[in-house]
Amino acid sequence: MFLPTCPLFPPLNKITCVEDLRRVARRRVPRMFYDYADSGSWTESTYRANEADLQQLKFRQRVAVDISHRSSRSQMLGQDVALPVALAPTGLTGMQHADGEILAAQAAERFGVPFTLSTMSICSIEDVAAHTTQPFWFQLYVMRDRDFIERLIDRARAVHCSALMVTLDLQVMGQRHKDIKNGLSTPPSPTLGNLLNLATKPRWCLEMLRTQRRTFGNIVGHARGVSNMSSLAAWTAEQFDPTLNWSDLAWIKERFGGKIIVKGILDADDARLAVEHGADALIVSNHGGRQLDGAPSSISALPAIVEAVGDQIEVWMDGGIRSGQDILRAIALGARGTLIGRAFLYGLGAYGGPGVTRCLELMAKELDITLGFCGRTDIRDVDSSILTNAPGANPSPRTYA
Ligand SMILES: Cc1cc2nc3c(=O)[nH]c(=O)nc-3n(C[C@H](O)[C@H](O)[C@H](O)COP(=O)(O)O)c2cc1C
Repeated sequence: MFLPTCPLFPPLNKITCVEDLRRVARRRVPRMFYDYADSGSWTESTYRANEADLQQLKFRQRVAVDISHRSSRSQMLGQDVALPVALAPTGLTGMQHADGEILAAQAAERFGVPFTLSTMSICSIEDVAAHTTQPFWFQLYVMRDRDFIERLIDRARAVHCSALMVTLDLQVMGQRHKDIKNGLSTPPSPTLGNLLNLATKPRWCLEMLRTQRRTFGNIVGHARGVSNMSSLAAWTAEQFDPTLNWSDLAWIKERFGGKIIVKGILDADDARLAVEHGADALIVSNHGGRQLDGAPSSISALPAIVEAVGDQIEVWMDGGIRSGQDILRAIALGARGTLIGRAFLYGLGAYGGPGVTRCLELMAKELDITLGFCGRTDIRDVDSSILTNAPGANPSPRTYA
């Protein structure tokens, strides 16, 4: 029987790109949480540049090459990955969709790509570990309460997180106008408009009523004196630590005892310091344009950093990746891996776990087909010669174990 589909909430098989997921997420997720994901700091110029600069890179089409067998499989930090993509750490993911971190981690695990849990997640480290079978990565914000941070590192180690991702670009916070206007603070102080907006998201509300996971799971009940929303508010307000410096990486690394990924590098000198201080991988990132507005796009910062340290540690990149083509552009400029933030959040907000899977499927397909158009069969052999307008010289060839 022919059943017409609703154009506002199409079935997943009618979703053909990440932009489709974004549009549905916008309809399903309450405005204050949708805005939280879909915005950058101040004028949002860096946020926009992340996507725009990727689009500037043009592919060199090659024809009449046997491309019948193609592979996008790769490795990130020695881990086999179905494509060189990991899910980036994102705070409040459990507010895009109930139990969001668990659903996203499960989708990533099934697809064969790494998942990173944020310090500021809704589901706790233990909760995500209890609902997955593979180790995931844990992202650490270093806070003033070092006792709490040490215990957090111990908790990540106890559930066998396979790497610790230390974010270095949030010692102070960039301002996002929409969050302030929406009252997205701790405790939340939503406007009347936001409360009315909730009434237009019945599915989100029902799912949220069904779950118990509605606060910062890694913090409440773990940080001293933080037992509810109002004590959490006081605690978070003063916790991000402006004294954080390179020497802190040593004790973090020693305490964790495993691989360390440094996140938030935009400068070649900082990249060299990351290597000097024992990082195993680094992420060229401007926090998705949410911190220093006016900083360069991640893709434009990438080549100089690959040039400086690409033969010493794995250099990854995030910011603005919305398609498999964008992944290929980053790999062409020397990244050994990429991370996606908003792209998977849109999938999650729109359709829950299946939306994250759909996002990954779409990107994998786009990557595979584009590889073929460029006359290539293995992503691990890709370099800047697949682009017509790569900046600078070809990055040195990378070797894979
Ligand atoms: C809603 C949201 C929350 C984020 N929260 C965190 C976080 O808790 N820790 C962190 O290191 N980065 C965080 N980020 C930055 C991402 O890890 C990543 O760098 C960024 O999303 C990449 O850009 P993209 O969203 O354009 O892919 C967040 C990004 C978004 C969009």
